[in-house]
Amino acid sequence: MTLSIHNYATLTDEECDALIVKAKAQLGERCVILGHHYQRNEVFKHADFSGDSLKLSKDAAQSTAEYIVFCGVHFMAEVADILSRPEQIAILPDLAAGCSMADMANLMKVQQSWNELAQVLDVENEVTPVTYINSAADLKAFCGEHGGIVCTSSNAQKILEWSFARREKVLFFPDQHLGRNTAYRMGIGLDEMVVWNFTKPMGGLTIEQIKNAKMILWDGFCSVHQMFKPEHIDNYLAQYPETKVIVHPECCFEVCQKADYVGSTEFILKTVRAAEAGTRWLVGTELNLVNRLSEECTDKNVQFMSPMLCMCSTMFRTDPQHLAWILDNLVAGHVVNQISVPEKDALLAKEALNAMLTVV
Ligand code: 13P
Ligand code: SF4
Repeated sequence: MTLSIHNYATLTDEECDALIVKAKAQLGERCVILGHHYQRNEVFKHADFSGDSLKLSKDAAQSTAEYIVFCGVHFMAEVADILSRPEQIAILPDLAAGCSMADMANLMKVQQSWNELAQVLDVENEVTPVTYINSAADLKAFCGEHGGIVCTSSNAQKILEWSFARREKVLFFPDQHLGRNTAYRMGIGLDEMVVWNFTKPMGGLTIEQIKNAKMILWDGFCSVHQMFKPEHIDNYLAQYPETKVIVHPECCFEVCQKADYVGSTEFILKTVRAAEAGTRWLVGTELNLVNRLSEECTDKNVQFMSPMLCMCSTMFRTDPQHLAWILDNLVAGHVVNQISVPEKDALLAKEALNAMLTVV
C-alpha cells in the first residue's frame, strides 16, 4: 500500500533527513535527485546534481537512473520527463510546486495571440515563437509545431540569434524581462520591442506597432524578481561604492541596466565564487541561493539586494517531509507524484528542446 504524506507531515526535518539518507542508500543508482539552486538547504543538501534550468535539463537527459526526482518546480520535472527515456520516471516531490510566471501564459492564450498576429503578419515565415523554459509542456510543443525553440536564462542570446537567423520577428513568452534584457544586449532598441497584453484584443497594439516590432514580448514576469528595484542598487552603492552588482535576467530592465553582471543562477554562482577575496557583491536573485552563496564565500561580502524577503514560495514547497515520503514509497515499490507529459505534446516539445540543446 502507498505510504501517505500525512505520516510524514508531522516528522521533524532531522527525522526526515535520516529517512532520506537511508532510502537513497537503498535505491542506489536507481534514483537520482536533481536540485535547483533555489531549493532550501534542507532539501538541496540531498541533491546528487544541482544547477540552473539548462544544466539540470542536460543532467536529466543524460541520466540513466530509473527515477529522476526533481527538487524544483513543475515545468522542470516536465522537461526531465520529455528528455529522459520512456521507461524512466520523473517525480516532483510536491505537485503544488509550480511557477507563477509559467502560469502567466497558457496554450489557449498563446494560440489566440498567434491567430491574431496571423491577421497582420505571415506568422509561419515572419515570426519565431520562443518560449522560456519556465513554461508548460504544451507551450514548448506549440514552439516545436511552429518552427520555434525553447531558451533558458543562460542561453537566451544564442537562442535569439538562432531565431532571428530564421525569421525577422520573435514572439517571446512568458517572461517579458528576459526577452527585453537579452534583445537589448544584442543591439535591438527598445523602440523595436512591444509588449503583448494578452488580456486585450491584438495584444492592445496597433497594426503599425506589430509590423514595426522585432520583439513581441508577452506581458509576463516573475513575482520574485520584480521585487528588486533600481533604488535598492542606488542606496547600497551610496554606502559601498566599490560593490559589484550581479542580477538574474528576470529582473526588470532598469535593474539589469544598473548591474555589472546579468546571468543565470549558475552564472551568478560561478562569477561570485571566482571573484577576488575581499570583494563586495550585491546579488539580485532568490534568497536561498544568496544565503547559501554568502555562507560559502566567507572571503567575500555577499549581500541580498532587497530589504524584503524575496523567496520563491513554490520552490520552497519542496520540503524534507515530501522528499522522504517520495523516496520511502520508491523503496516500497510505489511511484507517487509522477510527472508524465502526454505523448503528443512530449514529441513536439522535445523538438523545441532538442533545437535548444543543439544550439548550446
Ligand atoms: P535559472 O535557469 O537561472 O536557474 O532560472 C530559473 C528560474 O526559475 C529563475 O527564476
Ligand atoms: Fe518561477 Fe520566479 Fe520561482 Fe523562478 S523564481 S520558479 S520564475 S516564480
